[in-house]
Amino acid sequence: MQKTKAIILAGGNGTRLYPLTSIVSKQLQPVYDKPMIYYPLATLMLSGIKDILLITTPHDAPHFKSLLGDGSQWGISLSYVEQHEPKGIAEAFIYGKEFIGSDQVCLILGDNLFYGKLDFLRNAIQNNKGATIFGYPVQDPERYGVVEFDANGTVLSIEEKPSHPKSQYAIPGLYVFDNRVISIAEHLKPSDRGELEITDVQKEYLSLNALQVEKMGRGIAWLDTGTPESLLEAGEFIHAIEKRQNLKIACLEEIALRMGYIDSTLFEHLLLKLPKSSYKEYCARVFNEIQSA
Ligand code: G1P
Repeated sequence: MQKTKAIILAGGNGTRLYPLTSIVSKQLQPVYDKPMIYYPLATLMLSGIKDILLITTPHDAPHFKSLLGDGSQWGISLSYVEQHEPKGIAEAFIYGKEFIGSDQVCLILGDNLFYGKLDFLRNAIQNNKGATIFGYPVQDPERYGVVEFDANGTVLSIEEKPSHPKSQYAIPGLYVFDNRVISIAEHLKPSDRGELEITDVQKEYLSLNALQVEKMGRGIAWLDTGTPESLLEAGEFIHAIEKRQNLKIACLEEIALRMGYIDSTLFEHLLLKLPKSSYKEYCARVFNEIQSA
């Protein structure tokens, strides 16, 4: 299997969440009991990726660094690049060129939350031969990139935020690309709204006959957090599941331990440093359960 690195894109101005985002960046806003960035980071860690680049703004980089550090506490490697003027999602591959090197890369948008069994992502990482993206049925596809299929499931078109969507299938902000993505991004022309569009990258793979689109099953919840309402709904969703199951979603310490990224000695060390909180109590409970299993 090819080595896979990952990029979390956490730039942008988050203006649709103003005034929440006038001081604190969108991806640091609470989604119930954790900062938003914990969720995409958890998705990557659970899919087996340990080498991760976070792209953020010069204003927000210090906050992310003090929250997440270099990742070694969770047995992963986190590095940072600052994006001065956001000019579209596909710019991530230009900013990330050195980091990606000769590997394949998974990109996740810092405001996209996934909940459920992540086999779809592990399979995509393992089997990707060009680009692998996903289709997820939603009520309001005009807010997203939209993919249209024919009756056999062959991709007919991809459009960015079409006013008349040709299907219900939105494209979530989670993608796997082979190394060609760097040069594809470098040769893109800005769209009418002046951005290097991720959908243009996907279209390029489609024209190369190297695009795989997997429909995401019903078992996966994909939540986005771009508006005050969707942010609140995401928090309510996490709250409902956590309360019902008495578990935490995206507890990075727990994931690091269960994935074998850190051992129990390091976990105990982390536990000692956590402030008195329900989060700490949860980590202590997880530890005791694992030890006595
Ligand atoms: C971006 C992409 C879009 C994708 C969406 C997923 O849009 O341009 O193709 O469907 O993320 O969240 P944005 O949310 O940045 O407007």
